Amino acid sequence: MNILKVTSSILFFFFFFSSFSYLATSRESCKNYVCSTNSPGIHFPFRIQSRQPESCGYPSFDLSCNNATQTVLLNLPYSGQFIVQGIDYTTQQIWINDPNNCLPKQLLSLNLSGSPFKGVYHQEFSFFNCSSGLLKDQLTPIICLSDSNHTIFATSSRRVAALLLSTCKFITNVSVPVQRPFYEQILSSDLNDDLWLTWDEPSGCGKCESRGGQCGFKTNSSHEIVCSNVPRQSGFPRSARYAITIGVGVPGSIFLLGLLCFLFGKIKSYNARRQVEILEFNPTIAPIPKIMVGLDGPTIDLYPKIVLGESWCLPKPNDNTCPICLSEYQPKKTLKTIPKCQHCFHSECIDEWLSLNATCPICRNSPQ
Ligand SMILES: *[C@@H]1O[C@H](CO)[C@@H](O)[C@H](O)[C@H]1NC(C)=O
Ligand SMILES: *[C@@H]1O[C@H](CO)[C@@H](O)[C@H](O)[C@H]1NC(C)=O
Ligand SMILES: *[C@@H]1O[C@H](CO)[C@@H](O)[C@H](O)[C@H]1NC(C)=O
Ligand SMILES: *[C@@H]1O[C@H](CO)[C@@H](O)[C@H](O)[C@H]1NC(C)=O
Ligand SMILES: *[C@@H]1O[C@H](CO)[C@@H](O)[C@H](O)[C@H]1NC(C)=O
Ligand SMILES: *[C@@H]1O[C@H](CO)[C@@H](O)[C@H](O)[C@H]1NC(C)=O
Repeated sequence: MNILKVTSSILFFFFFFSSFSYLATSRESCKNYVCSTNSPGIHFPFRIQSRQPESCGYPSFDLSCNNATQTVLLNLPYSGQFIVQGIDYTTQQIWINDPNNCLPKQLLSLNLSGSPFKGVYHQEFSFFNCSSGLLKDQLTPIICLSDSNHTIFATSSRRVAALLLSTCKFITNVSVPVQRPFYEQILSSDLNDDLWLTWDEPSGCGKCESRGGQCGFKTNSSHEIVCSNVPRQSGFPRSARYAITIGVGVPGSIFLLGLLCFLFGKIKSYNARRQVEILEFNPTIAPIPKIMVGLDGPTIDLYPKIVLGESWCLPKPNDNTCPICLSEYQPKKTLKTIPKCQHCFHSECIDEWLSLNATCPICRNSPQ
């Protein structure tokens, strides 16, 4: 029994140093970073340029915090700066807006080439410059581009475009990266909704994050990306593999392999122990604070509910679709908001989500 314990300790340290020691050096400075309490958490592939070493982020994923404590997206080479509104690391999406509250102005010169980002869905809008007064009551103007003598409109409707073409000056067509695939033409829009972008490279991190893992460069100088700290579901086959790998590499492996047969029976409890030991042994490699368990029923019930029909006041007026089931809100439906970030969902959808997962599905804010 003593030999068994000693051997398992040896195995543990072999495993530990071969797999994890190289991660320890850069972990501390690569922890999740926020510019302010309401801004998105920043970690690999993104990094805050002035606060985190280069090895914490993928090239061209540099962000900064501005003096209004917003997260600023740098490095869209042919466009200006944008404010990062949110990042979904699992679907590899980022949504951005304009720091000066005039997104259409940025759209007129938007060019994503040379950046790692691209739109998921696009909707084409034609911009028109009309003399003031014209169609003012029929269409929504883009106020921040208009002046007292000229009104600017953007439309994705061919019919409206044809109408405007006959009376206004055509400015340009812009392919706007939108959040969802669209099924209808928009007669006119002030185009102030966030732009939704995604990235292809690095590719595996979304999967890693959705398994609860942590993505990052293997060492601070290599460009090999590893997924670490994945919580185990059924650890047996993998740890068996590690154990065998280590066993073969050690002289006198036959003896160890013999012992391994005994150890297999113990591997379940050993797994649980190992996870704990690693976290205690070196707190700097603890996973980013991410609560993997859901909330309890009474806590979920505390969140504010709105019944549609009583008041159509959504916290964000343009968000009329539930992000979880993707169907539009209907009158009499009960909605629920997460107070901290004001994201809105069908009550039954978010209840189910929160019972499995204690963070907002959109911005990953923890409601607690
Ligand atoms: C990264 O590695 C270099 C040497 O390769 C070292 O000088 C530097 O301190 C390391 N940085 C961190 C944050 O570990
Ligand atoms: C941020 O700093 C710039 C100058 O660097 C200044 O013009 C601007 O007013 C500041 N904004 C805020 C919100 O403090
Ligand atoms: C974006 O900029 C690149 C480089 O200047 C240019 O080649 C490309 O045509 C531009 N794309 C658009 C849509 O303007
Ligand atoms: C609209 O047209 C006027 C007159 O040609 C011009 O001064 C103004 O800059 C234009 N506005 C935009 C947003 O193109
Ligand atoms: C609008 O037109 C009037 C008369 O032509 C002119 O005096 C004024 O400066 C114009 N305003 C703007 C914002 O261009
Ligand atoms: C702009 O878009 C409209 C509608 O999609 C199209 O008919 C028109 O040819 C486009 N114009 C240019 C210059 O691309």
